[in-house]
Order: sequence, then C-alpha cells, then structure tokens
Amino acid sequence: MVSAVSGLPEPSGAPISTELLAQLATALWAERPAAPAGLPPGVQAPVNIAPPGSPLASPAGLGPNVPGTPIPAGVLPGSNLLPASPTPVLSLAHRAPALLPHAAAGNGVPDTLHSALPAYEPRLGGLVQGLPPLAAVPSTVPSAVPSALPAAASGYYFLDAPAAAAPGDAPLQALADQARRAAPDPHLDGIDLRGPRAADVPPLGQALQGQGAAPQYYFVHAVQLPNGFVTPAKAHPHADAAPVAAQQDRHPGFDIQAVRRDFPILSERINGKPLVWLDNAATTHKPRQVIERISHFYAHENSNIHRAAHTLAARATDAYEHAREVVRRFIHAPDAREVIFVRGTTEAINLVAKAWGGTNVGEGDEIIISHLEHHANIVPWQQLAAAKGARLRVIPVDDQGQIRLDEYQKLINDRTKIVAIGHVSNVLGTVVPVKQVVEIARRRGITTLIDGAQSIAHTPVDVQDLGADFFVFSGHKIFAPTGIGVLWGRREVLEAMPPWQGGGNMIADVTFEKTVYQPLPNTFEAGTGNIADAVGLGAALEYVERIGIAQISRYEHALVDYGMAQLASIAGLRLIGTVPGKASVLAFTLDGYSTDEVGQALNAEGIAVRTGHHCAQPILRRFGVETAVRPSLAFYNTFDEVDQLVREVRKLAARRR
Ligand code: ALA
Repeated sequence: MVSAVSGLPEPSGAPISTELLAQLATALWAERPAAPAGLPPGVQAPVNIAPPGSPLASPAGLGPNVPGTPIPAGVLPGSNLLPASPTPVLSLAHRAPALLPHAAAGNGVPDTLHSALPAYEPRLGGLVQGLPPLAAVPSTVPSAVPSALPAAASGYYFLDAPAAAAPGDAPLQALADQARRAAPDPHLDGIDLRGPRAADVPPLGQALQGQGAAPQYYFVHAVQLPNGFVTPAKAHPHADAAPVAAQQDRHPGFDIQAVRRDFPILSERINGKPLVWLDNAATTHKPRQVIERISHFYAHENSNIHRAAHTLAARATDAYEHAREVVRRFIHAPDAREVIFVRGTTEAINLVAKAWGGTNVGEGDEIIISHLEHHANIVPWQQLAAAKGARLRVIPVDDQGQIRLDEYQKLINDRTKIVAIGHVSNVLGTVVPVKQVVEIARRRGITTLIDGAQSIAHTPVDVQDLGADFFVFSGHKIFAPTGIGVLWGRREVLEAMPPWQGGGNMIADVTFEKTVYQPLPNTFEAGTGNIADAVGLGAALEYVERIGIAQISRYEHALVDYGMAQLASIAGLRLIGTVPGKASVLAFTLDGYSTDEVGQALNAEGIAVRTGHHCAQPILRRFGVETAVRPSLAFYNTFDEVDQLVREVRKLAARRR
C-alpha cells in the first residue's frame, strides 16, 4: 500500500482495534494527574478535540468528545510524551506498553501504529503543558487568535485581552518624536525616519545610474502584503495620514515569559549579564520542545528511513514523513511530495540553480535578482550565468531600501528565465512585495523563486497564495536545528527537473546501463539526509503553529517599529534600511565606532548582535558602508530588551571619541 501523503510504501499489518485504543485510553485516564501540573490559576486544561469518528473521540472513560471535556494533556506520569491530537495513540501506547503484546521495547509503539498514525509529540515542557492541542490550530494561519481554539485552551499562551494602547501603538514618526523628547538629541534633527539623509546616500554604481534621487513608493494605500505583512501607505508628510504597521498592538497576545521559559538558552548569563539575544537573523534559539524531540528521536527512533526493514526504521520513517507533512501545512503547500528536505536555504537555491537552471537557462538568457539579496541568492545564479553564458540582472532599491518595481518591470524581457527574490532582507529588514514580483513574472511565463530565509519566522507564508514556483527556507531561522531546510517547488516544475545529485534513496532501479529515479520527493533527496533534524524542524513548526505566526508577526512589527524609533533618537546613529513595516532587523552604524567595537561593547553587556557584512555586501555598499551593526528580533524578545540595547548604544554615543 502506498501512503496518500508521502507516496512511499506503507507496511502491511492490521490496524490497531478501536477496543484496544479504548483500553489504552481508559488506562491512561485512570492514571491522569488530578490537574495538569504547572497550570497557573484560572487556566483550564486543554480540551479533547479529537475529531468525530476518530477512535479516540469517545473512548471508554474519556467522556464524550465535546468541547470542554478535559483530556489528560499534562505530562504523563512516567512518560515524556504528551498525547497529540487528534489521535494521541502513540503516547497511549507508550504509557501502557503491556497492553500491546506486539509492541517493541523503547516507546512501545508497534509498526502498525507508526504507519497508521501521526508521529508522536515530545513532552511539552514547563508551561507549554497548557498549550492547545495541535489539532486546534487551523492549517491556514488566521489573522487573529484561532477561533477554533476553545476559550479554556486560550488562557495559556494566549492572553485574554490585549493591553491598553502603549507607545508601540503610535506611528513610527510619532514614536521618534516621543523618544526625541525623552532624550533630547541635537543630532536627531534632520534625521528623517522615512529615508536616509541625502548626504549619506552614496553615488550609485553604473548599473544603478539613472535612478531618481527621490525615494520611490509603491503603496499609496496601506495594503496587506503577501500573507500578513502590512505595508504602510506611501511615505507621508503628515504623520496622522499614515496607517502604519506600528499602530498594531504592542501586546504580544501570548505569554511572552512562558514562551521565554521554553528556550533554555535565554536563561544564560553572558559576561555576568542576562543574555539578550538579538542575533535572530543569523540563527534562532531552540525551544525545549525541539531539543526534546530530537533527543527522543535518538533515544527511541533512530534509524535510516527504510520503513519496511524493521521497527526502528518504521519509527524513523514516520517521524520524518510527519515532519514533511508539518512543513506542507505550515507553508500551505498543496502536496507533501513537493517538500524537499535540504541542508538549508543555500543548498535549496543551489539545487534549483543546478537542476532547474542547468536545463532551462542557456546562452543569452537572463536571471533577475534584487540588490537586496543575500550572497546565497547571488552566487549560485552568478555561477549558473557564467557556466551558460547567461546574464544576471539586478533590481535596484530606493533610498529607504525597497526594491523598485518600476525598474523591475523594465528589466523583464523575453530572455528572462527566472526571477529569484528574497522575501525579507537580512540586512535591512525590508519586506519585499514578493507577491507582486511573482505576479509580474508569471504573467510572462517566467519561473520564480522566493528566498524565505528571513521571512519564515516572521510572517505567515502561503505558497499557493504567493504563486511562486519555488519557496526556500532554513530550519535554523525558525527555531529548528541547523543543517536542515526546505525546498518547496510546484509539483509540475519539480517533476520536469532532473535530479541534481545521484545516489541511494533517490533511485527506483539501477543497472549499469541506466537508473530509474524515485518520484518526488525522493528524486531530490539522494543519500541519507538529516533525519533527526528534519524531525526537529517539524517540532519547531508545530511550536510556532501553537503560538500563531500571525500573532508573532504583529508583535514583532510593533517591536521593530519601537526599536527603530528609539535608535533613531541616538546622536550619530544612522539607521540602514528605513522602509516602514520592516521585519526583525534594525541595522545601523554609529559615528566614532567601528561596527565591531559596537558589537563588542554590547557583548560586554550580554547583548548579542551580528556585526560585519552579513553575507550581503552589495546592499551594504548601496548604502555606502562595508559593515553594519545588526540587532535582529524574534518573538521571544521583549520591549525591555530593546530598551537595554538602546541604553547601551546611547552610552556609547555619549562617550564618542
Ligand atoms: N544569513 C545569516 C545572516 O544573515 C547567516 O546572518
């Protein structure tokens, strides 16, 4: 039998009976803790939301499957597993292996369960015990707290009511005004948050000559950009005319202290000070749910992924394919077979450049990227262009750091074969209107790739809505391990591509004369992949799903806007990248200091930021600098941490040599 999800062969074997499941549930229920440990006062246990018809919808002793019926969702006694909705059977099996005569040692889950049911959840440590079950999270990310969440379950990470309006609710310029009043700074006069000072803008290179000096704006009205980002209206002479992202709620809408407790490393002390991690654009930290999931994999599931061989192979295969399905759901891809596991964004882009580009790009053809790109979205295309005699064309950016759609449209022509564009700049934080970029290309039948390395953790992504042919990202930017990432490709495009690497796992049949390849996704997964970290990626995405990426996006925008306004009030500080509605990144330079000096001074206070060229030299040079200081935020960062950053930078500025 072939799995409808993965297309991979499933082992045969009778499914576990409903009676046995009921027995397991009864045994578990009888032993449940009186109340889930660690729940704060007033917070109720999550509810049983097993779907009607599920064997667990009304098992004996568990009560009817109606909202409000508690299920034992705390840490199970003697177990490190939490029942995962909608079918927490594997956890049950783990709890009561004696009821499963054919269960193997370890987690006690027989092959048949692994094949038939979703992979299990690692224990959700600390306060996360109170998170709503995964099944409550809709597959498409809502714009607010998921309405499907019962009120009882929303009391944990999801706080009941947003706080009253806070400074972060004010428009950016108003925040700057406020900061200016709080810390009078003669240097601030003349700093326009809506764009760099004219004198700071370097002469443009040959390719960019002819670009108007005035910033270009594309959004006359505030618009909802692809999947959640709100792009403010055209830069405005009157602050009150602009509905800006900063007006969004400063309150996170989730319990940020509970979230922070999930990330063990955030309790580290650096140089005697609490760690303030503001290097999220380089890599993010991992919640214990991810750490424990990987640990569980190695303790109980480790094997290569050849499901039919033996029990551990079945476990490993199921865990790996479950992660693929989670990725599919997270980016709203239509088919899990379109999700290819790779090492990261860099490998994904190289794969496309080699496999797709090798077939589809020839002499005289053109490849379009933008001036914002990370080296990973420049070098593979340069290499392809050099190998094929093709040409790289670069969309210029305006003085705030947004791409110029007018120039882009002039670059596109009949020779254009692919447009490869970053969703969010890793240096400027610019959110690029990628949906429009893609639309313009697709109208002419041009293939498109979106580099989502810096957007995946900060905004909902819906690849069907974006409309691109490829979307790529790295796991480590979204609370998952390093060394795992995703290439999503439109099925027909992937199927038309030759494999880029050959070897085991991707073949159906090999003779010395020829090889027949496996279908997707194996076609592009030669050799033994990073199985455990793929599983960890699945756990990370499930973690984010539970918080809600739309909530995360709103909170982070408020945090970024606040940080921008505060930094702008510091004398001698130059913000690099000032497009409204930025994501995550607050890059700057400080008069009188090298960027390394600023980074070291911040590190002495426990504040981690990246300094240097950030693997994106062209865009820094566009702004006349070789390096910048780059604080970058994630949803576990707080307004207090931004204040600490600003305080330390302000001290440095005051001591300027
Ligand atoms: N791409 C990562 C960064 O921007 C490494 O820092």
